[in-house]
Amino acid sequence: MYLIAQPWNIPKLTRRFQARTRGYTDSMKRTSIRDIANKAGDDQKITMITAYDAFSARLVEQAGIDIALVGDSVGTTLQGRKDTLGVSMEAMLYHVEIVARCTERVLVLGDMPFGSYQVNEDDALRNAVAFLKAGANAVKLEGGAAFMPLIERMCEAGIPVMGHLGYTPQSVNMTSGPRVNKSRDELMEDAESLQDAGVFALVLEMVPGKIASEITQALKVPTIGIGAGAGTSGQVLVFHDMLGFSPDFNPKFLKRYGNFHETALEGLRKYREEVEGGQYPGDAHSY
Ligand code: KIV
Repeated sequence: MYLIAQPWNIPKLTRRFQARTRGYTDSMKRTSIRDIANKAGDDQKITMITAYDAFSARLVEQAGIDIALVGDSVGTTLQGRKDTLGVSMEAMLYHVEIVARCTERVLVLGDMPFGSYQVNEDDALRNAVAFLKAGANAVKLEGGAAFMPLIERMCEAGIPVMGHLGYTPQSVNMTSGPRVNKSRDELMEDAESLQDAGVFALVLEMVPGKIASEITQALKVPTIGIGAGAGTSGQVLVFHDMLGFSPDFNPKFLKRYGNFHETALEGLRKYREEVEGGQYPGDAHSY
């Protein structure tokens, strides 16, 4: 194992000096993996929300969220799939390009879809490069220690990687549903392996809160939880779920910060009624 230069290896004063002397350019306005490490180091919580299009990307940016995850959850939220397995590289790159184009500050994280990194390392590297060329600042992939050599190669190639442990939706056929099929010790071992391989952060999905806290305490890199309790370094939710666009999706961890399905339905129904009833358009809406 060799030491890869990572933000947590660089003392804070050196980091500040580098930032001052390098000079700020437009591209430096964007949140970097160093900013994420610094925020976690200052005991501030990291925020991440999915974004797939101009609409969600602009809202996520304006809300001051740290990371816009162009998640493969696009398969279930926008493509009407029952799971994420059918999402293609082509579709992911399409969405990454839009999110990168419509934002200036948020870190754009591209989620590597099923099949884009599991077959062989060369393909995986090519696909990760394609994500960065499309505008992503980093990629995320699901899986444990088995992916160490790949993650090391990606970091060496200049591609920051976020890991994803616990419930990993791309393995839904192995876990027979949304559940974690690893013990506390296996999860801890995976988390430490991924850190050694060079991930800059780690998603913990549906990991019991006590175990997620222990993993977070044991790691130097930040953890980002979804259904993993309050002891992680940050939180992630899916845009459509947390704003109430998916009324039939009700996992225990989900808190809704809006009820936009209901609001949108009300507006659409009213529009239909007014067009059918001749109230819209009125004089105020006519030329
Ligand atoms: O694709 C996605 O939205 C995700 C989050 C649930 C972490 O991977």
